[in-house]
Amino acid sequence: MIKVGVLGARGRMGQQVCTTVTDAPDMELVAQVDHGDALESLLGTDVIVDFTHVAAVMDNLRWCVEHGLNVAVGTSGFGDERLAEVRSWTDKASDVRVLIAANFSIGAVLMMSFAAQAARFFESAEIIELHHNRKMDAPSGTALRTAGLIGEARTKAGLGAPADATEKELSGARGTTVGDIHVHSVRMDGLLAHHEILFGGHGETLTIRHDSVDRASFMPGVLLGVRGIATLPPGLTVGLEPLLGIA
Ligand SMILES: NC(=O)c1ccc[n+]([C@@H]2O[C@H](COP(=O)([O-])OP(=O)(O)OC[C@H]3O[C@@H](n4cnc5c(N)ncnc54)[C@H](O)[C@@H]3O)[C@@H](O)[C@H]2O)c1
Repeated sequence: MIKVGVLGARGRMGQQVCTTVTDAPDMELVAQVDHGDALESLLGTDVIVDFTHVAAVMDNLRWCVEHGLNVAVGTSGFGDERLAEVRSWTDKASDVRVLIAANFSIGAVLMMSFAAQAARFFESAEIIELHHNRKMDAPSGTALRTAGLIGEARTKAGLGAPADATEKELSGARGTTVGDIHVHSVRMDGLLAHHEILFGGHGETLTIRHDSVDRASFMPGVLLGVRGIATLPPGLTVGLEPLLGIA
C-alpha cells in the first residue's frame, strides 16, 4: 500500500484527492493536513499531495524535502525562479522526488504537448484561459507553462515575437505577456478550468481547446503521480509528461 498524505486537505482539490486516495485499492490515506495543522503527521508517508496556496506551498515543500518526503505538487504559481529554488533544495537532499505539475488533467497535458508541437508552424500565437472567479492567481499555471513551451519552440525555430501592430490600447486590452506570447485571463462564475491556444498564419488558424468541467478531471493524473513518483529520478520533475511517456 502506498501511504499518502494530503496538504490542503480541506480545500476544494484536497477534499477530492482525499476521497480519490481513500477509494484507490493500492493506497492508504494516512495524513490530512490543512492550514494551522502540524506537519509532523506527514512523517512516514510515501508521497504527499499538495494542493494548497501560492503563498504557503514553498514553506511546506521545503519542510517536506528537508524531511526526505516525496511530494506531488498541484498548487499553482511555479515560475522559473521558484523552480530554481526547489531545485536548490532537492540538490542538497539525497533521495527525494518532487513532481510539480501545473495541470494534473491528462487532456490538458496533451493540449500543452500539441501546442508545443504546433508552435513553430504559425506566425501568431495567443492564449486565452478561463477559470472560476474564486481562483486567486492569473494567468493560470497551465497558461504560463503553455506560453513557455510555445516560446521555446518558436525560439528553436528562429521565430521572433508574433507581429502585432497595436500602437494605442487601453491598459490590459492585449492581456499580459509571457515571453512574447499574449495571455488573456477570464474569471467567471459557472466556469471551472478552460484553456484555448490560438495559432494563426498563412490564411488559416488552429485552435486547441481543453475544458476541465469537473475536478474529477484532475484525479487520474494525481493517481498517476502518486503511483509513479518513486519511478522518477531523484530531484525535481516538472510536468506529468514523463509519467505519460510523452516527455
Ligand atoms: N495542478 C492542477 O491540476 C490544479 C487543478 C486545480 C487547482 N490547482 C491549484 O491548486 C491550489 C488549490 O486549489 P483549490 O481550488 O483546492 O483551493 P482551496 O482554496 O479550495 O484550497 C486550498 C486549501 O489549502 C489550505 N491551506 C492554505 N495554506 C495552507 C498551509 N500553509 N498548509 C496547509 N494547508 C493550507 C487552505 O486552508 C485550503 O483548505 C490552487 O493553487 C489552484 O490553482 C491546480
